[in-house]
Amino acid sequence: MQLDVFTLFPRWFEWFRTQRHVENALRLGHDVSCVNYRDTTPLSGGQVDDTPFGGGAGMVLRVDVVETALRARYDCDPVELRERRRVVVLTPGGRQLDDRLVDELAAEPELTLLCGRYEGFDERIVEHYATDSISIGRYVLAGGELAAMVVADAVLRKLPGTLGHVDSAHEESFSAALEGAPEYPHYTRPAEYRGWRVPEILLSGHHQRVRDWRLEQSRERARASAVAPPDDDAAPDE
Ligand code: ADE
Repeated sequence: MQLDVFTLFPRWFEWFRTQRHVENALRLGHDVSCVNYRDTTPLSGGQVDDTPFGGGAGMVLRVDVVETALRARYDCDPVELRERRRVVVLTPGGRQLDDRLVDELAAEPELTLLCGRYEGFDERIVEHYATDSISIGRYVLAGGELAAMVVADAVLRKLPGTLGHVDSAHEESFSAALEGAPEYPHYTRPAEYRGWRVPEILLSGHHQRVRDWRLEQSRERARASAVAPPDDDAAPDE
C-alpha cells in the first residue's frame, strides 16, 4: 500500500512510523509518507487557512492550498485523482470508522488521508477532491492528525505480515470470524491469582470446546454492549 498523509504537522508521524507494525509494513515494501500543505501553499507567509465566510470562530483550511498540495504530489487535477485513488478527509461528522471500513481501506493499493485543522475544511475540498469523509468518533479533536493515525494504524495492521502472528488480525474484536462481536476474554499464567481462577475450560485442552466457549463469550459481550434504544418513553425512576 502507498499511504500519503497531508498535514501541517508531519513530525507527529515520525513517532508513528517507529511503531512495530508500521516498521514491519515499511520493511515489506509498503510506504507511509507525509506531505506538508505549507510546503506548496500559493499564499504568502506560509498561510494555509482563512476566516469563514458568514462569520464565526476559527479558521478554515483553504481549497486552493489543498489543491496545490495534491497537484504537486500527484501531478494531476485532484478532481480526477479520486477516480484512481481513495482520498479521505478526516472530520468528526464523517462515516464512523469500524472494522468493515478498515477492511475496505486495507484492500486499497493507494490511499490519501487529508488532515484538517482548526474549524476543518472548506467544504469544496470534501465535495470535489475527496472520495470519503471518515470520523473516528462523535467528538471533536483539535485536528485530523490523531484521527489519521488511528485510521493508518488500523489499516496497516491488517496488511499480511505486519503483525507478529499470522492469525492475530483474523480472530479479533469485530472481525467476521467473531461475527462482528467484541473479542472473548484472554487469560495467561498464573492460572490462579489472589483466588481468581482462570475458567477451567481454557485449561482443559479440548480445542473445540474452547472455541465454542470463546464464541459464546463474544456473543455475550455483543449482547451486553448493544446500544440501548433512546430512553424517551422510559418511566421515571420512582
Ligand atoms: N478531526 C477532528 N475531530 C475528528 C474526529 N473525531 N474524527 C476524524 N477527524 C477529526
